[in-house]
Amino acid sequence: MNVAIIGSGGREHAIAWKLKQSPQVGKLYALPGNPGIAEGAECVPIGVMDFARIEQFVRENEIALVIIGPEDPLAAGLADQLSARGVKVFGPSKSAARLEADKWFAKEVMRQQAVPTAEARSFTDAKAAEEYIRTRGVGRCVVKATGLAKGKGVTVCYRESDALEAIGRIMRDKVFGSAGERVVIEEMLSGPECSMLAFVDGSNIYMMEPAQDHKPVDDGDTGPMTGGMGAYTPTPVLDDRTIVQIERDVFVPVLDGLRRDGIDYRGVLYAGLMLTAAGPKVLEFNVRFGDPETQPLMMRLQTDLLEVMLATIDGRLDQVELRWDRRPALCVIAASGGYPGAYQTGQEITGIADAEALGDVKVFHSGTARRGDTLVTDGGRVLAVTAIGDTIAAARKRAYAAMDKVHFNNMHYRRDIAHQAIRRA
Ligand code: AMP
Ligand code: GLY
Repeated sequence: MNVAIIGSGGREHAIAWKLKQSPQVGKLYALPGNPGIAEGAECVPIGVMDFARIEQFVRENEIALVIIGPEDPLAAGLADQLSARGVKVFGPSKSAARLEADKWFAKEVMRQQAVPTAEARSFTDAKAAEEYIRTRGVGRCVVKATGLAKGKGVTVCYRESDALEAIGRIMRDKVFGSAGERVVIEEMLSGPECSMLAFVDGSNIYMMEPAQDHKPVDDGDTGPMTGGMGAYTPTPVLDDRTIVQIERDVFVPVLDGLRRDGIDYRGVLYAGLMLTAAGPKVLEFNVRFGDPETQPLMMRLQTDLLEVMLATIDGRLDQVELRWDRRPALCVIAASGGYPGAYQTGQEITGIADAEALGDVKVFHSGTARRGDTLVTDGGRVLAVTAIGDTIAAARKRAYAAMDKVHFNNMHYRRDIAHQAIRRA
């Protein structure tokens, strides 16, 4: 069966790498893909938002399955458009994708379904938001742009001035464009974080292994938010009982709520959670695989990914089994210095082959490009250096040993991925 993956990041590279191991995959394409993906798939320079050309490509190349990696094409209805042409699509419909694309919609679904989440207010008027902050004496809070902002639209504020500044940037300076027309101001929660991803086939929910992402750019979880600077799985911050509780109290009611509104959810649903003293609470939903959580998850997944995806689309997840390597996997992102702010691209990258030669290491490409024979940086997040090991400490040691081999100018990475897990162990 011919398969096309839409996207060009580390998540898509990990999905392509895993799919390549399936005997049922015929030709594998990536639109547009990246130089790492090109090692196992044919990359075609069609952008993820160019729906007309994607549809034409799918038709002309007898693609039986399209996997949509990123949120933007999902939110804009690519899954609906391709499904309407009779193509199997892995990824939810536009109406389901609102769970990620509109944080206030997600809050309303959660409120209706009594899903535990932070208390929140929403504002479309900057003045009203600022007044709310000032008159309520809200110092500690979290300010979020409600639309899609590549993981950067959230500011955790400890003082009134931080909150006012965040509102100014989002609503007055419009740094996220229309994604910031509405802000959500919510209660600051505390506790360890985790990412729970599940395959959802319309009725069955199949929880994946728990993962943890590290969103702030610097060590000690400091600095501005990024798309994610590293991740690992499984995470000991969650025990089996809590996973069952999250499935029962979060996934089931949210999917019920959507179904009641006539929304049939199929694909991956991702809940970002904080394990507070009062139990797990939802920070956000994503309607797709996480990046970088997917990199260590795919390294551990033993089941044929194609089978799981087809079962998800066809509503027969109960017929497949998810098997995982029991060993933990961990990924560290090598980012361009300056990210999530301005950064340079076009810097030569070396050492990937040496890193992978260590064994049990895979370097997934996030933001890379080819200039002639040279591999160069082409994004904020550049590489996802991923390793598997007998323990989380061993996986981490291996990932950092691999990172030592990799080089490009102004490379920045966190040195403390999985610090919570290591401290517990
Ligand atoms: P989000 O994109 O909504 O998951 O937010 C990005 C990051 O901001 C999360 O991973 C948390 O570290 C932090 N965050 C978001 N919401 C809250 C909250 N209500 N309380 C504390 N931290 C939060
Ligand atoms: N790692 C968080 C995300 O994919 O949005």
